[in-house]
Amino acid sequence: MRILSIETSCDDTAISIVEFTDNSGKVTCKILADIVSSQTELGVQYGGVFPAMAKGEHIKNLPIVYEQATKIAGNPNIDAIAVTYGPGLEPCLWTGITFAKELALKLDVPIIPVNHMEGHLLSSLLPEYEINKEIVLRIFPENSISLLVSGGHTQLIKINKLGSYEIIGSTLDDAVGEAFDKVARMMDLPYPGGPQISKLAEIGRSAGDSGLKFPRPMLHSKDYNFSFSGLKTAVLYHIRDLTAQVGNPINDDDKIAIAREFEDAGIEVIIKKTVNAIEEFGSGYLLLGGGVAANKHLQNELARVSKENNFETYYPVRQITGDNALMIAIAGYFHKDEIWDKKNSDTLKACGNLSLKA
Ligand code: KG4
Ligand code: ZN
Repeated sequence: MRILSIETSCDDTAISIVEFTDNSGKVTCKILADIVSSQTELGVQYGGVFPAMAKGEHIKNLPIVYEQATKIAGNPNIDAIAVTYGPGLEPCLWTGITFAKELALKLDVPIIPVNHMEGHLLSSLLPEYEINKEIVLRIFPENSISLLVSGGHTQLIKINKLGSYEIIGSTLDDAVGEAFDKVARMMDLPYPGGPQISKLAEIGRSAGDSGLKFPRPMLHSKDYNFSFSGLKTAVLYHIRDLTAQVGNPINDDDKIAIAREFEDAGIEVIIKKTVNAIEEFGSGYLLLGGGVAANKHLQNELARVSKENNFETYYPVRQITGDNALMIAIAGYFHKDEIWDKKNSDTLKACGNLSLKA
């Protein structure tokens, strides 16, 4: 089955064409084309994502990305279109949905609506990334836990079985990626800030302990929720104190120490809550997903606690930690029987507040 997938929930315009085969329960996927057109330049210029501007970019980019993808894939016959219908920025979601509807009419194929967070959740089933290679997907582990960490979400999810998920914890304020981005902005680092902070934090780790200490919000709370605004404010006050003392913007050594301690604090809380969830629900598997899954310190710490606590972590390959259409194709394949009923147009709506979002 060949699926063309479309992702426009935030500021990336992405289209993939993927061929799936099922050999007695073993799903093989062959990536024929996988394109992500990022609006990072705009983000850098304006310091974030603005829905109306992002929508305009999607409208401009979608036909171009579609052309590129079909050309790379060699104009194959498509059996279905998978499209992200939420959660995300509503004006952006609509551009993808409208495009999918027009294309479905033209190609006379069904549409499979996909939840963006389920895409992230299933992304770690892809064990490697190579175009035009037959790749066997990992078996979906039922009764497991998923940790989704991105610019919009920080969620711990109890997976019962495919399509049956319970959010057991989420952020009460900023998402972890958002906190990385905001702290980076406080230090005049370019958008998106996550990779920048992470780079500085690595330098800080090899330089040794700076003595700086930030709070670990909700580390000992008896639930699975997170809060990053207190940590962010602690960074802000520290930077204010430093600039007041020296009368200059903070220097590179300060930035390195802040980045390291901020990352240590945020990741420590995430790790502790994740291990608690694994223990409480007796799961042997953790599925990691979302843009922050690319964070090296998070990956190293997860590898350490996986060993100590006897569970296996599935990491998404680097190419699909951020927003992408490949994960939407994978989720679309798993839901291939749940197609949108064209006669009932009410069933396919852009939705910013789906069951997977707290
Ligand atoms: O999943 P994603 O591409 O988009 C959303 O759906 O939000 O995640 C983007 C987020 C940004 O906040 C970015 O700063 C963060 O992921 N990010 C990272 C790293 N790479 C990306 N955060 C920490 N460390 C990284 N290496
Ligand atoms: Zn995302």
